[in-house]
Amino acid sequence: MKNKHEIQKAQQSDIPDIVKIHRKCIVTTNSKHYPEEVIKEWVETINEKGVSDQITTTQWYVLKLTGQTIGFAQIDTGKGVLYQIHIDPDFQNQGYGKTLLNFLIGEFRNSGTEKITLLATLNAVPFYETNGFTRNEDTTIPLVKEFIDMVEMQRNL
Ligand SMILES: CC(C)(COP(=O)(O)OP(=O)(O)OC[C@H]1O[C@@H](n2cnc3c(N)ncnc32)[C@H](O)[C@@H]1OP(=O)(O)O)[C@@H](O)C(=O)NCCC(=O)NCCS
Repeated sequence: MKNKHEIQKAQQSDIPDIVKIHRKCIVTTNSKHYPEEVIKEWVETINEKGVSDQITTTQWYVLKLTGQTIGFAQIDTGKGVLYQIHIDPDFQNQGYGKTLLNFLIGEFRNSGTEKITLLATLNAVPFYETNGFTRNEDTTIPLVKEFIDMVEMQRNL
């Protein structure tokens, strides 16, 4: 991670980039761990309205590299929930996910959260384990016909 990065609170103007990265992650990264039918339905659920509806009720951040958005995250410090971290597949495995996660952990700590819970995609379980989270229960998120297999994980702060 040689280039200068910045983490900023997401603005409405970041929504198109957020949706683009999320969809790219599903078809590029998640697709290696889920059946094609699941990926097809999953990617259709990601749209600008969905983000726009949640951007004021939860906390969203974008990670920018020399002005380009290369990742984003959504958390709720009040509930102690980490909803998602996504790094553009072209920039994965370079430490940016860990950088964003450490920033979020700081936000949780600053607001007095004692425990973070999350639902990890199957591909992300080793990433969260490397970063101090432990597995809880296996679970699923319903789509239309399909279900997304997830793993509930947690970390005490
Ligand atoms: C999961 C994700 C955010 C990780 O971000 P990343 O930038 O690729 O990860 P990093 O390069 O920061 O890796 C940090 C550490 O986790 C480890 N790690 C990351 N992915 C891993 C994997 N699939 N298996 C094993 N270890 C992994 C790295 O080896 C590294 O370990 P180190 O600190 O000992 O060197 C990214 O792969 C992603 O966006 N995936 C698609 C979206 C997704 O599924 N997000 C999770 C939704 S809850």
